[in-house]
Amino acid sequence: MTHSLLSPLDMHLHLRDEAMLKVVAPLSAHSFSAGLVMPNVVPPITTIEALLAYKKRIVEASGNDVFEPLMTLFFRSDYTRSFLEEASLHVKALKLYPSGITTNSEGGVASMDIEVLRPVLEAMSDLGLILCVHGETNGFVMDREKEFGSIYESFASSFPRLKIVMEHITTKESVALLDKYDNLYATITLHHLLITLDDVAGGMLKPHLFCKPIAKREEDRQALLHVSLNAHPKVMFGSDSAPHPISKKECCGCAAGVFTAPIALQALTELFDKHHALASLQAFVSDNAQKIYNYKPPFKEVILEKVPSLVPNAYGDVVPMFANESLAWSLKNVL
Ligand code: NCD
Ligand code: ZN
Repeated sequence: MTHSLLSPLDMHLHLRDEAMLKVVAPLSAHSFSAGLVMPNVVPPITTIEALLAYKKRIVEASGNDVFEPLMTLFFRSDYTRSFLEEASLHVKALKLYPSGITTNSEGGVASMDIEVLRPVLEAMSDLGLILCVHGETNGFVMDREKEFGSIYESFASSFPRLKIVMEHITTKESVALLDKYDNLYATITLHHLLITLDDVAGGMLKPHLFCKPIAKREEDRQALLHVSLNAHPKVMFGSDSAPHPISKKECCGCAAGVFTAPIALQALTELFDKHHALASLQAFVSDNAQKIYNYKPPFKEVILEKVPSLVPNAYGDVVPMFANESLAWSLKNVL
């Protein structure tokens, strides 16, 4: 049995830089047609020069595979309208991080005060730039995303023409917001469709499953599954594949991030097949994002086959999700 996916897109991807970029970029470039590249490198991407130079390094690291890096800028509340006008020639989206909320987000937004953010959000709305948001407060770890809900609501109602993507949603409350506001969208990761907090910390601690936002409860996972398997038009696949070297994961003070890029399509196909929902997978991994981002990706056909594949224990010095385990599907061919 085989299953074909056309121009799969990863709408939330960390490619890092330097040696790590050289390890991970070819893996995404092999099976995805394009990816929305997060700007939280060190230092974060806040200028057009840095953006174009980073894009060039990604293209060089991607090898000969057809792969378009869709670049993002790190949101700053002091960007001017003329800067954003120029930026809109190079990016479709800006990524907003509350300051210090996750890996390399220290230069993020210190206050979510809408009046402080208004000039930039208004200009983005006028220019058709998309706002991608890491939606967590600094409250109790299991409540951070739910607490951010009221901020999503105030953004969505104050800027009705601004498309807002709630990145890597993990709760049933975030899922419910999708149907409440026309201009709210979401990315959903592979790992949040598969695991709950129990898998991370319910038994022996699993550092390679530790990420931000932390995986939540089974009822939350079910809500995420429901919209994904039913091809809800406002959800897109975004792996949030976030590689860290083994030394930063298997240590005291584990970095947040799950590395899924090389196994994402195989594992998603297995999951959708298990739920008899393969017919929805094309929308989830490409068609919805094309509509939301008004984007036509380069053509790529990925053929998957229901033949078991063993996941390597590491790529370079990064441990992937399902390391040393078998997946029910494998990549057969990429055209
Ligand atoms: C991401 C990273 O490592 O850059 N980590 C994560 O746990 N998801 C940042 C992010 O998306 O929060
Ligand atoms: Zn991320």
